[in-house]
Amino acid sequence: MKYHILTFGCQMNVADSGWLDRSLTSMGYEKTPDEDQADFFIVNTCSVREKPEQKVYSLLGRLKEFQEKKPWVFACVGGCVAQQVGNFFFQRFPFVRLVFGTDGLAMVPAALQRLEKDEHLKISLLDFQDLYPERTNHWPDKLGPQAFVNIMQGCDNFCAYCIVPYTRGRQKSRSSAEILRECRELVDRGVKEITLLGQNVNSYGQDKDGQEISFARLLREVDRINDLKRLRFTTSHPKDMSPEVIKVFGELETLCPQLHLPLQSGSDDILKSMGRKYTSSKYLDLVEALRSVCPDLALTTDLIVGFPGETDTDFQQTLNVMNKVGFDSCFSFKYSDRPGVRSSLMQPKVSEQEKTLRLDILQQLQEEWTRKRLESRVGRKDLVLIEAPSKMQKAGTRSWKGRDLGGRVVNVGLDSSDDLTGKILEVAVIRAKKHSLEGEVIR
Ligand code: SAH
Ligand code: SF4
Ligand code: F3S
Repeated sequence: MKYHILTFGCQMNVADSGWLDRSLTSMGYEKTPDEDQADFFIVNTCSVREKPEQKVYSLLGRLKEFQEKKPWVFACVGGCVAQQVGNFFFQRFPFVRLVFGTDGLAMVPAALQRLEKDEHLKISLLDFQDLYPERTNHWPDKLGPQAFVNIMQGCDNFCAYCIVPYTRGRQKSRSSAEILRECRELVDRGVKEITLLGQNVNSYGQDKDGQEISFARLLREVDRINDLKRLRFTTSHPKDMSPEVIKVFGELETLCPQLHLPLQSGSDDILKSMGRKYTSSKYLDLVEALRSVCPDLALTTDLIVGFPGETDTDFQQTLNVMNKVGFDSCFSFKYSDRPGVRSSLMQPKVSEQEKTLRLDILQQLQEEWTRKRLESRVGRKDLVLIEAPSKMQKAGTRSWKGRDLGGRVVNVGLDSSDDLTGKILEVAVIRAKKHSLEGEVIR
């Protein structure tokens, strides 16, 4: 049986789809990039804003047409929209035969075998578990240079706008022994860079009544793995960024000078109604402390415009904080009402037109900062981990795409017939483009 897999949303979803992919391949299912070749579809969904949720419904509407020519075709829907609306998929799209939430993922391979045996069966795997659901990994023979490792599931923060605590459940830290075992196994199989993943990695272990090590300690343990070259993590909540974690940025050899630290808003009033539990000046203090131990830190963020009650002055404060920090890049979103979250009841709502205007202004300001920050790299030396051949190849030369220690994309021209994927090259940065850098290998 052939399957086609589609993934929306954050890196947690990408990592979940990766696991499912490897498991299905090891069971003899065949992955196909062609929708018309597929016997079944897997759609891993995101519900963080209204748009990606709507996309899922229009996608399923389109995919069900494949049933006209091949009546056995069916779909499995997983991830955050599945957790949110669950069995509704069975009613609205009868060709959906499996819905699964994040904690149900581990049971999907077995469920698929049951679906294959009984064509009338439909299965829903939507229960939350009390503990982090461990799952067996089936690694392929060849792994790429980078890997994600989950360290926790869910979130306890209930920021006023956010649906994640409802779709991913309460915070459940994974055992540090399991995390370290997986990291060691990946490095043994040639992985050079590991990104630790969780909705709020800085509160790792805090759900374990003192029975688990802290996040800072976990970073120290992973850093000690022989032959690991680079360590990153995402996402951090500013309120849980501890002095110990700040300290390790100046100490650990493998920890990259890169941090994604979502600010959401620069207005203290808005931060308060968002329930973020920090002020803009606390955020700026954190940035200062981080930059004093790690001056080269590449800092990225998430920002929301048009949260209910956001005035022009509030918005202006967000721009002010952006100018004080100078982010390397930023993901910015128009506020979107989500079902059941606190802010959906908050008033007054900001008009769509105003949100569009604010987002444009914010994104233009960020473009300027991105350019400035990239230009400040020109003339510097950096270590670039090569990921793949560049998309754009200049005539007569070859070019490779990689990332520097700060996580910036660097294209490196190098005439070599060897496959450089996974190599770490010392590079001089010669040019800044709009969203990336160009470099030359230092001989
Ligand atoms: N756990 C992470 C990311 C959560 S979702 C964190 O706490 O930072 C990713 C981003 O989506 C959030 O940082 C936020 O900027 C945005 N987001 C979440 N809910 C939203 C909503 N209702 N409307 C608009 N953007 C939202
Ligand atoms: Fe959502 Fe806040 Fe949790 Fe992030 S920390 S996932 S924004 S509730
Ligand atoms: Fe989306 Fe769920 Fe991730 S809502 S952002 S896929 S946690």
